[in-house]
Amino acid sequence: MSNALKDYLIISQQRVEKALDTRLPANTTLPKRLHDAMRYSTLDGGKRMRPMLTYSVGKALGLEPELLDGAACAVEMIHVYSLIHDDLPAMDDDDLRRGKATSHIQYDEATAILTGDALQALAFQLLANDKTMQASAETRIKMITALAKASGSQGMVGGQAIDLESVGKTLSLPELENMHIHKTGALIRVAVQLATLSKPDLDPNVAAKLDHYAKCIGLSFQVKDDILDEESDTATLGKTQGKDQHNDKPTYPALLGLAGAKQKAQDLHEQAVASLADFGEEADILRALSLYIIQRSH
Ligand code: IPE
Ligand code: IPE
Ligand code: MG
Ligand code: MG
Ligand code: MG
Repeated sequence: MSNALKDYLIISQQRVEKALDTRLPANTTLPKRLHDAMRYSTLDGGKRMRPMLTYSVGKALGLEPELLDGAACAVEMIHVYSLIHDDLPAMDDDDLRRGKATSHIQYDEATAILTGDALQALAFQLLANDKTMQASAETRIKMITALAKASGSQGMVGGQAIDLESVGKTLSLPELENMHIHKTGALIRVAVQLATLSKPDLDPNVAAKLDHYAKCIGLSFQVKDDILDEESDTATLGKTQGKDQHNDKPTYPALLGLAGAKQKAQDLHEQAVASLADFGEEADILRALSLYIIQRSH
Protein backbone atom coordinates (compact mmCIF):
# COMPACT_ATOMS: atom_id res chain seq x y z
CA MET A 1 0.00 0.00 0.00
CA SER A 2 1.41 3.40 -0.94
CA ASN A 3 2.13 5.97 1.75
CA ALA A 4 -0.54 8.26 0.31
CA LEU A 5 -3.15 5.52 0.74
CA LYS A 6 -1.96 4.70 4.24
CA ASP A 7 -2.19 8.37 5.16
CA TYR A 8 -5.71 8.59 3.74
CA LEU A 9 -6.84 5.56 5.74
CA ILE A 10 -5.34 6.92 8.96
CA ILE A 11 -7.06 10.25 8.38
CA SER A 12 -10.37 8.45 7.78
CA GLN A 13 -9.96 6.42 10.97
CA GLN A 14 -9.25 9.58 12.95
CA ARG A 15 -12.18 11.27 11.29
CA VAL A 16 -14.69 8.56 12.22
CA GLU A 17 -13.32 8.35 15.77
CA LYS A 18 -14.05 12.05 16.27
CA ALA A 19 -17.42 11.80 14.51
CA LEU A 20 -18.46 8.90 16.76
CA ASP A 21 -17.26 10.69 19.87
CA THR A 22 -19.37 13.76 19.14
CA ARG A 23 -22.47 11.70 18.26
CA LEU A 24 -22.45 9.39 21.29
CA PRO A 25 -24.07 10.78 24.46
CA ALA A 26 -21.55 11.76 27.17
CA ASN A 27 -21.05 9.23 29.95
CA THR A 28 -22.26 11.90 32.39
CA THR A 29 -25.70 11.77 30.71
CA LEU A 30 -28.25 9.54 32.46
CA PRO A 31 -28.32 6.56 32.44
CA LYS A 32 -24.58 6.94 32.95
CA ARG A 33 -23.68 3.23 32.97
CA LEU A 34 -25.43 2.60 29.65
CA HIS A 35 -23.81 5.60 27.99
CA ASP A 36 -20.44 4.60 29.41
CA ALA A 37 -20.90 1.11 27.94
CA MET A 38 -21.87 2.55 24.53
CA ARG A 39 -18.71 4.65 24.50
CA TYR A 40 -16.55 1.80 25.84
CA SER A 41 -17.38 -0.53 22.95
CA THR A 42 -17.60 2.05 20.18
CA LEU A 43 -14.62 4.32 20.77
CA ASP A 44 -10.90 3.68 20.53
CA GLY A 45 -10.83 0.34 18.76
CA GLY A 46 -11.45 -1.66 15.63
CA LYS A 47 -10.16 -1.27 12.11
CA ARG A 48 -13.11 0.95 11.09
CA MET A 49 -13.29 -0.91 7.79
CA ARG A 50 -16.94 -0.05 7.11
CA PRO A 51 -16.63 3.74 7.70
CA MET A 52 -13.40 3.72 5.65
CA LEU A 53 -15.34 2.15 2.81
CA THR A 54 -18.06 4.79 3.02
CA TYR A 55 -15.47 7.58 2.93
CA SER A 56 -13.40 5.90 0.19
CA VAL A 57 -16.36 5.38 -2.12
CA GLY A 58 -17.37 8.97 -1.40
CA LYS A 59 -13.87 10.11 -2.36
CA ALA A 60 -14.02 8.10 -5.60
CA LEU A 61 -17.31 9.90 -6.37
CA GLY A 62 -15.96 13.34 -5.46
CA LEU A 63 -18.03 13.75 -2.27
CA GLU A 64 -16.82 15.78 0.70
CA PRO A 65 -16.30 13.61 3.81
CA GLU A 66 -18.44 15.97 5.96
CA LEU A 67 -21.48 14.73 4.04
CA LEU A 68 -20.66 11.13 4.97
CA ASP A 69 -19.89 11.38 8.69
CA GLY A 70 -23.47 10.52 9.73
CA ALA A 71 -23.64 7.47 7.45
CA ALA A 72 -20.14 6.30 8.43
CA CYS A 73 -21.08 6.50 12.12
CA ALA A 74 -24.43 4.76 11.54
CA VAL A 75 -22.87 1.72 9.89
CA GLU A 76 -20.12 1.48 12.51
CA MET A 77 -22.71 1.68 15.33
CA ILE A 78 -24.68 -1.21 13.81
CA HIS A 79 -21.41 -3.14 13.47
CA VAL A 80 -20.44 -2.51 17.12
CA TYR A 81 -23.92 -3.55 18.27
CA SER A 82 -23.54 -6.76 16.24
CA LEU A 83 -20.17 -7.47 17.88
CA ILE A 84 -21.49 -6.88 21.42
CA HIS A 85 -24.36 -9.29 20.85
CA ASP A 86 -22.15 -11.78 18.92
CA ASP A 87 -19.89 -12.01 21.99
CA LEU A 88 -22.71 -12.73 24.48
CA PRO A 89 -22.74 -16.12 26.25
CA ALA A 90 -25.89 -17.06 24.30
CA MET A 91 -23.99 -16.57 21.04
CA ASP A 92 -20.20 -16.99 20.66
CA ASP A 93 -19.44 -16.48 24.37
CA ASP A 94 -16.27 -14.40 23.96
CA ASP A 95 -14.41 -12.52 26.71
CA LEU A 96 -12.09 -10.45 24.53
CA ARG A 97 -12.92 -7.93 21.79
CA ARG A 98 -10.69 -5.27 20.26
CA GLY A 99 -8.01 -6.14 22.81
CA LYS A 100 -10.21 -5.49 25.85
CA ALA A 101 -12.93 -7.21 27.88
CA THR A 102 -16.21 -7.72 26.00
CA SER A 103 -19.17 -5.61 27.07
CA HIS A 104 -20.88 -8.31 29.16
CA ILE A 105 -17.60 -9.00 31.01
CA GLN A 106 -16.76 -5.32 31.60
CA TYR A 107 -20.36 -4.45 32.57
CA ASP A 108 -22.95 -7.25 32.73
CA GLU A 109 -25.11 -9.19 30.29
CA ALA A 110 -28.18 -7.00 30.60
CA THR A 111 -26.11 -3.86 30.01
CA ALA A 112 -24.46 -5.48 26.97
CA ILE A 113 -27.85 -6.33 25.46
CA LEU A 114 -29.15 -2.81 26.09
CA THR A 115 -25.95 -1.23 24.75
CA GLY A 116 -26.41 -3.07 21.47
CA ASP A 117 -30.07 -2.07 21.35
CA ALA A 118 -29.24 1.59 22.00
CA LEU A 119 -26.47 1.71 19.39
CA GLN A 120 -28.84 0.27 16.82
CA ALA A 121 -31.46 2.92 17.59
CA LEU A 122 -28.88 5.72 17.48
CA ALA A 123 -27.67 4.55 14.05
CA PHE A 124 -31.12 5.08 12.55
CA GLN A 125 -31.57 8.36 14.39
CA LEU A 126 -28.38 9.63 12.71
CA LEU A 127 -29.60 8.70 9.23
CA ALA A 128 -32.92 10.40 9.96
CA ASN A 129 -31.57 13.73 11.17
CA ASP A 130 -27.78 14.05 11.36
CA LYS A 131 -27.15 17.71 10.56
CA THR A 132 -23.90 17.39 8.57
CA MET A 133 -25.39 14.99 6.01
CA GLN A 134 -27.31 17.62 4.06
CA ALA A 135 -29.37 14.83 2.47
CA SER A 136 -32.95 15.24 1.28
CA ALA A 137 -35.79 13.49 3.11
CA GLU A 138 -36.07 11.11 0.14
CA THR A 139 -32.38 10.18 0.32
CA ARG A 140 -32.58 9.69 4.08
CA ILE A 141 -35.51 7.28 3.67
CA LYS A 142 -33.52 5.32 1.07
CA MET A 143 -30.56 5.15 3.46
CA ILE A 144 -32.73 4.08 6.42
CA THR A 145 -34.35 1.39 4.28
CA ALA A 146 -30.97 0.12 3.04
CA LEU A 147 -29.46 0.00 6.54
CA ALA A 148 -32.56 -1.64 8.02
CA LYS A 149 -32.53 -4.33 5.36
CA ALA A 150 -28.79 -4.94 5.74
CA SER A 151 -29.10 -5.18 9.53
CA GLY A 152 -32.28 -7.22 9.91
CA SER A 153 -33.59 -10.72 9.35
CA GLN A 154 -32.63 -10.65 5.68
CA GLY A 155 -29.21 -9.21 6.44
CA MET A 156 -26.80 -9.41 9.39
CA VAL A 157 -29.28 -10.72 11.99
CA GLY A 158 -30.49 -13.37 9.53
CA GLY A 159 -26.88 -14.41 8.93
CA GLN A 160 -26.26 -14.66 12.66
CA ALA A 161 -29.36 -16.88 12.98
CA ILE A 162 -28.02 -19.18 10.26
CA ASP A 163 -24.59 -19.18 12.00
CA LEU A 164 -26.12 -20.29 15.31
CA GLU A 165 -28.32 -22.98 13.81
CA SER A 166 -25.34 -24.33 11.83
CA VAL A 167 -23.19 -25.15 14.87
CA GLY A 168 -21.94 -28.71 14.62
CA LYS A 169 -23.21 -29.10 11.05
CA THR A 170 -21.28 -29.39 7.80
CA LEU A 171 -22.68 -26.84 5.38
CA SER A 172 -22.33 -27.09 1.63
CA LEU A 173 -20.27 -24.37 -0.04
CA PRO A 174 -23.38 -22.45 -1.25
CA GLU A 175 -24.90 -22.65 2.25
CA LEU A 176 -21.70 -21.38 3.84
CA GLU A 177 -21.48 -18.57 1.29
CA ASN A 178 -25.10 -17.62 1.97
CA MET A 179 -24.39 -17.43 5.72
CA HIS A 180 -21.31 -15.24 5.24
CA ILE A 181 -23.00 -12.95 2.70
CA HIS A 182 -25.68 -12.24 5.28
CA LYS A 183 -23.85 -12.11 8.60
CA THR A 184 -20.91 -9.99 7.37
CA GLY A 185 -21.38 -9.14 3.71
CA ALA A 186 -24.62 -7.22 4.15
CA LEU A 187 -23.16 -4.52 6.41
CA ILE A 188 -20.09 -4.10 4.23
CA ARG A 189 -22.30 -3.79 1.18
CA VAL A 190 -24.48 -1.15 2.82
CA ALA A 191 -21.38 0.84 3.86
CA VAL A 192 -20.80 1.31 0.13
CA GLN A 193 -24.48 1.88 -0.65
CA LEU A 194 -24.74 4.69 1.90
CA ALA A 195 -21.99 6.49 -0.02
CA THR A 196 -23.56 5.93 -3.44
CA LEU A 197 -26.95 7.06 -2.08
CA SER A 198 -25.26 10.25 -0.91
CA LYS A 199 -24.88 11.18 -4.56
CA PRO A 200 -28.50 11.11 -5.81
CA ASP A 201 -27.57 11.92 -9.44
CA LEU A 202 -25.11 9.01 -9.67
CA ASP A 203 -25.32 6.91 -12.85
CA PRO A 204 -27.07 3.63 -11.80
CA ASN A 205 -24.45 1.65 -13.78
CA VAL A 206 -21.68 3.14 -11.68
CA ALA A 207 -23.63 2.36 -8.50
CA ALA A 208 -24.12 -1.24 -9.70
CA LYS A 209 -20.36 -1.69 -10.29
CA LEU A 210 -19.58 -0.38 -6.82
CA ASP A 211 -22.26 -2.66 -5.38
CA HIS A 212 -20.65 -5.66 -7.06
CA TYR A 213 -17.27 -4.62 -5.64
CA ALA A 214 -18.89 -4.42 -2.21
CA LYS A 215 -20.46 -7.89 -2.52
CA CYS A 216 -17.06 -9.41 -3.35
CA ILE A 217 -15.17 -7.75 -0.51
CA GLY A 218 -18.04 -8.42 1.91
CA LEU A 219 -17.55 -12.14 1.37
CA SER A 220 -13.75 -12.04 1.24
CA PHE A 221 -13.80 -10.16 4.56
CA GLN A 222 -15.47 -13.08 6.36
CA VAL A 223 -13.38 -15.70 4.52
CA LYS A 224 -10.30 -13.90 5.86
CA ASP A 225 -11.87 -13.60 9.33
CA ASP A 226 -12.27 -17.40 9.33
CA ILE A 227 -8.65 -17.86 8.15
CA LEU A 228 -7.34 -15.53 10.88
CA ASP A 229 -9.35 -17.38 13.54
CA GLU A 230 -7.41 -20.48 12.54
CA GLU A 231 -3.89 -19.20 11.93
CA SER A 232 -3.38 -15.93 13.84
CA ASP A 233 -2.95 -15.46 17.58
CA THR A 234 -5.04 -13.85 20.31
CA ALA A 235 -2.68 -10.90 20.93
CA THR A 236 -2.64 -9.89 17.25
CA LEU A 237 -6.38 -10.41 16.76
CA GLY A 238 -7.50 -8.70 19.96
CA LYS A 239 -10.08 -11.50 20.21
CA THR A 240 -9.64 -15.14 21.23
CA GLN A 241 -8.05 -17.19 18.45
CA GLY A 242 -9.45 -20.64 17.68
CA LYS A 243 -13.00 -19.95 18.81
CA ASP A 244 -14.62 -21.19 15.58
CA GLN A 245 -13.18 -24.67 15.99
CA HIS A 246 -13.89 -24.57 19.73
CA ASN A 247 -17.54 -23.64 19.05
CA ASP A 248 -17.77 -26.10 16.14
CA LYS A 249 -18.68 -23.40 13.59
CA PRO A 250 -18.77 -24.06 9.87
CA THR A 251 -16.04 -21.93 8.26
CA TYR A 252 -14.23 -21.66 4.94
CA PRO A 253 -10.99 -23.27 6.24
CA ALA A 254 -13.05 -26.08 7.81
CA LEU A 255 -14.71 -26.79 4.46
CA LEU A 256 -11.94 -26.01 1.94
CA GLY A 257 -8.78 -26.26 4.05
CA LEU A 258 -6.55 -23.22 4.67
CA ALA A 259 -5.08 -23.24 1.16
CA GLY A 260 -8.55 -23.51 -0.41
CA ALA A 261 -9.88 -20.68 1.75
CA LYS A 262 -6.92 -18.46 0.82
CA GLN A 263 -7.50 -19.17 -2.87
CA LYS A 264 -11.17 -18.23 -2.43
CA ALA A 265 -10.18 -14.93 -0.79
CA GLN A 266 -7.74 -14.21 -3.63
CA ASP A 267 -10.41 -14.99 -6.28
CA LEU A 268 -12.88 -12.66 -4.58
CA HIS A 269 -10.26 -9.89 -4.44
CA GLU A 270 -9.64 -10.27 -8.16
CA GLN A 271 -13.38 -10.11 -8.85
CA ALA A 272 -13.67 -7.01 -6.68
CA VAL A 273 -10.88 -5.24 -8.57
CA ALA A 274 -12.38 -6.32 -11.91
CA SER A 275 -15.65 -4.56 -10.96
CA LEU A 276 -13.66 -1.30 -10.77
CA ALA A 277 -12.28 -1.61 -14.31
CA ASP A 278 -14.14 1.51 -15.51
CA PHE A 279 -12.67 3.66 -12.74
CA GLY A 280 -9.35 5.46 -12.86
CA GLU A 281 -6.99 6.34 -10.06
CA GLU A 282 -9.87 7.82 -8.02
CA ALA A 283 -10.67 4.18 -7.11
CA ASP A 284 -7.10 3.20 -6.14
CA ILE A 285 -8.04 3.35 -2.47
CA LEU A 286 -10.86 0.86 -3.09
CA ARG A 287 -8.48 -1.49 -4.89
CA ALA A 288 -6.01 -1.20 -2.01
CA LEU A 289 -8.76 -1.81 0.56
CA SER A 290 -9.76 -5.02 -1.18
CA LEU A 291 -6.15 -6.23 -1.05
CA TYR A 292 -5.82 -5.13 2.56
CA ILE A 293 -8.92 -7.18 3.48
CA ILE A 294 -7.32 -10.42 2.31
CA GLN A 295 -3.79 -9.60 3.50
CA ARG A 296 -4.55 -8.10 6.93
CA SER A 297 -3.10 -9.65 10.06
CA HIS A 298 -6.10 -8.85 12.30
C1 IPE B 1 -15.36 -8.67 13.03
O1 IPE B 1 -15.36 -7.51 12.25
C2 IPE B 1 -16.64 -9.39 12.86
C3 IPE B 1 -16.94 -9.73 11.48
C4 IPE B 1 -17.99 -9.29 10.90
C5 IPE B 1 -16.04 -10.62 10.76
P1 IPE B 1 -14.06 -6.61 12.13
O2 IPE B 1 -12.86 -7.47 11.83
O3 IPE B 1 -14.34 -5.49 11.18
O4 IPE B 1 -13.91 -6.03 13.60
P2 IPE B 1 -13.31 -4.63 14.09
O5 IPE B 1 -14.35 -3.60 13.84
O6 IPE B 1 -12.05 -4.35 13.33
O7 IPE B 1 -13.07 -4.84 15.55
C1 IPE C 1 -19.44 -12.16 13.33
O1 IPE C 1 -18.85 -13.28 12.84
C2 IPE C 1 -20.43 -11.55 12.44
C3 IPE C 1 -21.15 -10.51 13.17
C4 IPE C 1 -20.77 -9.97 14.30
C5 IPE C 1 -22.39 -10.06 12.61
P1 IPE C 1 -17.80 -13.91 13.86
O2 IPE C 1 -18.47 -14.46 15.05
O3 IPE C 1 -16.88 -14.78 13.10
O4 IPE C 1 -16.99 -12.58 14.31
P2 IPE C 1 -15.80 -12.60 15.35
O5 IPE C 1 -14.78 -13.56 14.82
O6 IPE C 1 -16.37 -12.98 16.67
O7 IPE C 1 -15.30 -11.17 15.30
MG1 MG D 1 -20.34 -15.20 15.51
MG1 MG E 1 -17.87 -14.23 17.14
MG1 MG F 1 -14.79 -14.87 13.34
